[in-house]
Amino acid sequence: MIMIAALKKVRHGLGMGLLLAAWMTAPASAGAAEAGTALVRPSDAGLIASIARGGRLYDKWFKELPDTPGPATRHSLYPETGPYAGKAPDTWRCKECHGWDGLGKNGAYGSGKHATGIKGIQAMDGGDPERVAALLKAPEHGYGGLLTDRDLTDLAHFVTRGQWDMDAVIDRAGKTIKGGDPVMGQVYYLTLCAQCHGRDGKAKGMPKLGEVVNDNPWESLHKILNGQPGDDMPALRGLDRRIVKDLLAFLQTLPR
Ligand code: HEC
Ligand code: HEC
Repeated sequence: MIMIAALKKVRHGLGMGLLLAAWMTAPASAGAAEAGTALVRPSDAGLIASIARGGRLYDKWFKELPDTPGPATRHSLYPETGPYAGKAPDTWRCKECHGWDGLGKNGAYGSGKHATGIKGIQAMDGGDPERVAALLKAPEHGYGGLLTDRDLTDLAHFVTRGQWDMDAVIDRAGKTIKGGDPVMGQVYYLTLCAQCHGRDGKAKGMPKLGEVVNDNPWESLHKILNGQPGDDMPALRGLDRRIVKDLLAFLQTLPR
């Protein structure tokens, strides 16, 4: 289970109590139980892992799945003149059309080098996972022959139960974090992240966190919640929102 793996990985560097406290008070799932069940029930833990895997598939499913090359032809829903039209596999990433914030043309991808004019997925937040899975299998999306039922279920859980209102976390114009406390964020960072990313966020061979989190806080938030497709980055979806905001605020103070 992803969260347990994450806990094991951070076991040594950390006030375990702090992490457990965060884990225990985390919302049971992003959408449904946001109003505040105090404990993560075992049945929810499986759902959270499914949502996180769905999030990694949404990011780049052909990297999350072992030995799967991306499709060689452009996705039929991707605009012919869109900025990534020449990069066939990328046109099959959900995030390329619907955005890291899930808001499509009404979000951060409304303009700039990823703009497609395609709508977001936010209307499906809280919706029926079966309907989403069916939508993804239908010929327009065309994922039926590429993904298994488990993959489609995880994606559907992400869409219906895993979306965050990123506008509540990130100020769109300034790309800054709304109300995060970088001093607390540093405490979380040094205990949860530094052993892999280095104290300054510039561990050898890794993306420079000070750079990526300032350039694209939406992508960073997505990866903190769901992990990095096909990589060792833990999914920290079980963390309280407050902690995630504090972390992001601190990450933006790291050197580029
Ligand atoms: C090449 C672009 C493209 C890609 C890639 C893509 N979609 Fe879509 N998606 C669309 C378009 C266009 C629509 C809107 C169809 C319509 O007009 O209703 C849509 C609609 C949706 C909707 C319904 C939204 C609503 O409010 O009706 C969901 C949910 C969705 N996509 C999820 C996904 C997921 C999950 C993935 C990845 C597995 C994905 N999409 C990949 C283009 C894309
Ligand atoms: C077990 C090691 C490990 C831990 C712990 C870890 N990460 Fe990561 N992280 C990774 C790896 C591996 C990648 C992918 C690196 C790559 O793409 O080359 C990654 C990627 C990322 C990215 C995406 C960078 C990009 O490509 O845009 C962000 C942001 C990030 N980590 C933040 C964090 C934060 C914040 C924490 C602590 C809450 C954390 N990580 C904990 C291993 C880890």
